[in-house]
Amino acid sequence: MSEQTLPDRRRVKAEPSAVQHYTRRKPAKHHAEMALVARAFPALPPGSRVLDAPCGAGRLSLWLAERDLRVAALDLGSAAVVHTRTLLATDGADAEVREGDVFALPWEDRAFQAVVCFRLLHHFQERARRLALVREMARVCDGYLLVSYLSPWSFTGLKRRLRAALGGRRHRQNHTSLSELVADLKAEGFQLDRDLAQRRFLHSLHLARFVRKSR
Ligand SMILES: C[S@@+](CC[C@H](N)C(=O)[O-])C[C@H]1O[C@@H](n2cnc3c(N)ncnc32)[C@H](O)[C@@H]1O
Repeated sequence: MSEQTLPDRRRVKAEPSAVQHYTRRKPAKHHAEMALVARAFPALPPGSRVLDAPCGAGRLSLWLAERDLRVAALDLGSAAVVHTRTLLATDGADAEVREGDVFALPWEDRAFQAVVCFRLLHHFQERARRLALVREMARVCDGYLLVSYLSPWSFTGLKRRLRAALGGRRHRQNHTSLSELVADLKAEGFQLDRDLAQRRFLHSLHLARFVRKSR
């Protein structure tokens, strides 16, 4: 199937209201997610080039910039881009924030020492779409690649599947097994380094860290 014909390409909202939604995220949820990022992110030398895509309202980009990393960020939504640019400029960070598509990143191969893709993969129901996403992230990554996913092996995941099996509402977020991600990224030259859960067996949000084998 070609990239253009994949069905759920535009399923994720990129309009201004989505940015507002993200800036108003519940503080406890936001802090728990950022704590997961902090646990998973590798220690890198100051000045290392890192990519945050999609950046949404820029919360990860800001966290990265505050760690003396050279941040590039990208989002499909122009409101998200303007918001992130302003946030980083106010913080005094010299960052590159672009409007663009995660499936066609505007950077050369192996441009970044670390790439993080947080809270996007689970929006795609099609395996081919998820594969296209991690491949493109892997292409621009020369070191660590961090990808969040929703694990099926959690209390929340099992509850959602049971509800769907009993004829209840089907949850709009899709679960991915770690083995799928490991296989897809192995083919791109990456191996699993760590797999961290927000709260293992309770929440389904995981952040997997891969590292390029051939450096
Ligand atoms: C759930 S938010 C996550 C943002 C950020 N990673 C965070 O955790 O705060 C999803 C973001 O993905 C963006 N998005 C959706 N599809 C995209 C695409 N194809 N390319 C770039 N950004 C996209 C949306 O505009 C939205 O800002």
